[in-house]
Amino acid sequence: MTHPTIDQREAWQALAAHAREMRTTHLSELFTGAPTRHAAFTRRAAGLTLDLSKQRWRDETLDRLLDLAREAEVPEAIRALLAGERVNRSEDRPALHTALRLPPEASLVVEGEDLVPSVHATLERMATMVERFHAGQWRGATGRAIRDVVNLGVGGSDLGPLMVTHALADYRPEGVHTIDVHFASTMDGSQLADYLARLNPETTLFVLSSKSFTTIDTLSNARTARDWLLARLMGENREEGVDAELVMRQHFIGVSASPEKMNEWGIAEAHQLEFWEWVGGRYSLWGAIGLPIALVVGMDHFRELLAGAHAMDRHFSAAPLSDNLPVLLALAGIWNVNFLDIRAHSILPYDGRLEFFAAYLEQLEMESNGKSVTHDGREVGYSTCPVLWGQLGPNAQHAFYQLLHQGTQAVECDFIAPKVRYDDVEDPATRDHLMGQHRLTLANCFAQSRVLMLGDEAIEDDGPRPVHKRYRGNQPSSTLLLDRLTPATLGALIALYEHKVFVQATIWDINPFDQWGVELGKEIAGETQRILEHQADIAGMDDSTRGLIEAVWAAERGAR
Ligand code: F6P
Repeated sequence: MTHPTIDQREAWQALAAHAREMRTTHLSELFTGAPTRHAAFTRRAAGLTLDLSKQRWRDETLDRLLDLAREAEVPEAIRALLAGERVNRSEDRPALHTALRLPPEASLVVEGEDLVPSVHATLERMATMVERFHAGQWRGATGRAIRDVVNLGVGGSDLGPLMVTHALADYRPEGVHTIDVHFASTMDGSQLADYLARLNPETTLFVLSSKSFTTIDTLSNARTARDWLLARLMGENREEGVDAELVMRQHFIGVSASPEKMNEWGIAEAHQLEFWEWVGGRYSLWGAIGLPIALVVGMDHFRELLAGAHAMDRHFSAAPLSDNLPVLLALAGIWNVNFLDIRAHSILPYDGRLEFFAAYLEQLEMESNGKSVTHDGREVGYSTCPVLWGQLGPNAQHAFYQLLHQGTQAVECDFIAPKVRYDDVEDPATRDHLMGQHRLTLANCFAQSRVLMLGDEAIEDDGPRPVHKRYRGNQPSSTLLLDRLTPATLGALIALYEHKVFVQATIWDINPFDQWGVELGKEIAGETQRILEHQADIAGMDDSTRGLIEAVWAAERGAR
């Protein structure tokens, strides 16, 4: 007999009954006569403060959600994840991104092998490379020091490093040879074409970041980059001894779980950084995929990022469920999605340095939990990952907040901001201005979550308003305050969301570590490309796709 699915269990049923009562309760009522609500629903860990008081829940709701977490065996799942058990069941392997941020003195024996020494050996190799760049000693084939590094990667091999290098750009180490880091991900070559037009091949190096080393997006950019370098560097200097091998060695670093494929592609062995199959692509910024981060912020700050994430891992492992930030954030999401029918989630950072945080979370959350089959192969009868999107909050206020305030969709929001910024700016007048701008930003952040919560009640009674000016409020949100945005708190913030995703997956009984849903698209794209290139027959295509392909052919004929 198969075991009951989570929605058939007692804790879920009790929550469903409780939700029927709560659906008619407006958030503003929950604050009336509750002067300690903020304190009651706020928790702190690893430099982060999480205020969940603007969720549409009360103590009883949280108690019942905690029962659900226990019924879904969340504590056992956390232990299994951190111990390196094969939690990625469809691929039969552990998901050990947390091992990448263990300190050197730790030990984690998984299936007979202590992983910590090899993790730190890779960090040491990264450190040696970073040192060479920062000393101006990594030289291109013509002998000039490298000053531009272009990361070629997509998905997890792009978004994590892109997001973190942008967030921590203020943390560049002083007194080192500056390396400018750029990112090219799209297969259409738009970003790459721009770099090739303005960078100097003699001083440019490419990092090929790809766990599988088979991703066509990355490999097509890599081929273009390789030919650009070879043509530019070998053309004039052939007699002076610049050969292809030298160009390949001095202008490419490979980061992958497949050394064989890096060898085949021509990456010099000494310039390969390897990682492990047990690190998922979207969980990989903590190791060699983080090389661009270390090139920007230096190894010391990179290690602080790891330490911050590790602090969150320890909290996740040790804190009781009722104080556990990732668990609580996950439960708020479950409550909204599964019991209040709120299936849209917006990520709204109020700090320009977190510009790419929403894009990063879009992959982390939706590629992890955009699933509809349980571990034992049954179709789920409940919703899983909501549609998640976001943008810098201050810009989004002038773009899509209209929908949050007066549209027909219920949306959960995460507001994210540092408490303090700019207090280290040297010039006093500029410091005052910028600190004022930060306070203005925080005021907007708090005002928006307040209006989303209270609606019209947020404003002192100024008489009846016409219906088109009314705000109904009752949109739930969480607010996350970072003490400051530092490598450590950013590490903790990312780890918080990674673990939140894991807790939700555990309750939904789905695998957050595979991504089979993207494979078919890749296969079909290959077939479509062969047709588009006239190397295969169009007859088997559906009418719409055939029409589109023929339109391209006609345009190409016209262009010739
Ligand atoms: O197609 C999805 C995906 O496999 C992501 O999971 C991954 O982050 C991205 O492609 C890039 O993969 P790779 O690092 O193997 O090039």
